[in-house]
Amino acid sequence: MCGIVGVLGSHEVAPILVEALKRLEYRGYDSAGIATVNNGALDRRRAVGKLVNLSDLLVHEPLAGKSGIGHTRWATHGAPSVNNAHPHRVGGVAVVHNGIIENYRELRAELAEQGVHFTTDTDTETVALLTELYLREDPDPVRAAYRTLDRLQGAFALAFLFDGHEDLIVAARKGSPLALGHGDGEMYVGSDAIALAPLTDRITYLEEGDRAAVTRNSVTIHDAQGQQVARPVKRIRRDSARVDKAGHKHFMSKEIAEQPEVIAEAIRRYLPSGETTIRLPDDSLDFSKVQRLTMVACGTAYYACLTAKYWFEQLARLPVEVDVASEFRYREPPVTDGTVALFVSQSGETADTLAALRYCAGKADKIVSVVNVPESSIARESDLALPIHAGVEIGVASTKAFTCQLSVLLMLALKAATDRGTISPEALADHVAALRGIPAMLNLALDQDDTIRAAAQRLSEARDVLFLGRGAMYPLALEGALKLKEISYIHAEAYASGELKHGPIALIDQHMPVVVLAPRDALFDKTVSNMQEVMARKGKVLLISDQDGIDAASDGVWDTIRMPRVHDALTPILYAVPAQLLAYHTAVAKGTDVDQPRNLAKSVTVE
Ligand code: G6P
Repeated sequence: MCGIVGVLGSHEVAPILVEALKRLEYRGYDSAGIATVNNGALDRRRAVGKLVNLSDLLVHEPLAGKSGIGHTRWATHGAPSVNNAHPHRVGGVAVVHNGIIENYRELRAELAEQGVHFTTDTDTETVALLTELYLREDPDPVRAAYRTLDRLQGAFALAFLFDGHEDLIVAARKGSPLALGHGDGEMYVGSDAIALAPLTDRITYLEEGDRAAVTRNSVTIHDAQGQQVARPVKRIRRDSARVDKAGHKHFMSKEIAEQPEVIAEAIRRYLPSGETTIRLPDDSLDFSKVQRLTMVACGTAYYACLTAKYWFEQLARLPVEVDVASEFRYREPPVTDGTVALFVSQSGETADTLAALRYCAGKADKIVSVVNVPESSIARESDLALPIHAGVEIGVASTKAFTCQLSVLLMLALKAATDRGTISPEALADHVAALRGIPAMLNLALDQDDTIRAAAQRLSEARDVLFLGRGAMYPLALEGALKLKEISYIHAEAYASGELKHGPIALIDQHMPVVVLAPRDALFDKTVSNMQEVMARKGKVLLISDQDGIDAASDGVWDTIRMPRVHDALTPILYAVPAQLLAYHTAVAKGTDVDQPRNLAKSVTVE
């Protein structure tokens, strides 16, 4: 949440900062701003709303300087306004911040006692005010910033820029990620490596509690204990940071279309061709000794865990508990011997998921994570990190990361089943063959785009939509409803089909579309009974099934979407595609901002 960037350059930095912020806009888009030092003088420009408003402002009011910091905001404290926009400047210091300063009320009270005047509603202003106060006692900017950092509680990534200092940015991370980029006589700071990718492929990731004094030719890092430390410079693959729409209208549609390719890659990484043995990055995980699997995540990743519960329980006969991270972490659940704790996160930085992981560290036998960003905090703090190989995901509504998470989790469940001796070699070979065939099936699902667009056109007129599914289609119904509400702003809910009678059926009338996810599997007839109950009450059913299912049950339905027939275990991966496309085309029909829906951010680094 919130993206920050800093550049000590050899050219004018304003356009470079704006360009880098563009690559961080997925983290929030309530306001944007930059500050520079030019001929020793600090100045800033800020604008409410998306980055384009800041770019427009800079045309009329340019900002000169070769050193600068920038920010794109997801509002936590204080409404989106120019006044609350970062950088926050007090006297000789400007600050950009990602995260929450949890003790800002105490700090404000302390500052108020000293007669300090506040001009914003933000927690960040206290950082600038404190630093300015310390600068008056001791003009050394690094010491002033470090003194301030010692006072802060909460989660933050911060970058400081100082009046009169054209060759200095102070950067710090605690709870929120921050990377340093090394150029030739230039240095960069960014919330992630993607922001810096066009500038450099040499990156240093700051570690938890690190603070750094950065100049064009040097970086001095101190750890949380105040010890000077050296952090490695890593080379990142620049192509992994490509962020264009490749001819699509939106990142979301590009990312939906990429699924066959990225899933094929994920499968290839864990299942070398010709083999049926699932290969993990190391051999340290043996499920034969595991007694319980605890899976924790947020949002779409949580629904991936709920789906995987069916696989681990059915294939590996392993007891599984799944929870959302924000509940898990504060419930303080017992973590018993023999527990593997598994955390699923696209970004690898979600604050609640990370906190849940830290709660389990030292209690669980093993901490495993399934992540898209291998350098993320969650990956680094795990005993075993399993990358999903989805590539950069920009659309705020997660799509390809979800299906790649599912693919990796299914392979992990197959490994668990093999380790525990609960799957026969024939059944394993069947699953593996079906997995290898899934990219082709996903292409067939994508071919239904026109049909799905037409159905979405009708759905876009609804005020409320219900999603129903049974078994592993239930979590997928939850994901379908989440996708629809987050990008089309249509109220959508999902229920396990069997729960329909216990409440939601009261909502059914001729205005209520009900999306039924029902491949022709062992539970099909049960789901169809629930579907009949909906139609008997004039509910409008959109049935998503395979040809057999449609032949058997489409009488009287409002609409159908046909999926290819796949192995039962693979249906959640396949049926994710129509759920995603339905949400996408509904949002397009409604004219909403598909890639950057209101109030959301992709990386939720505050709790
Ligand atoms: C945000 C995103 C969702 C994502 C969730 C968890 O809400 O908008 O798309 O599923 O965070 O994020 P993570 O990075 O941990 O998967």
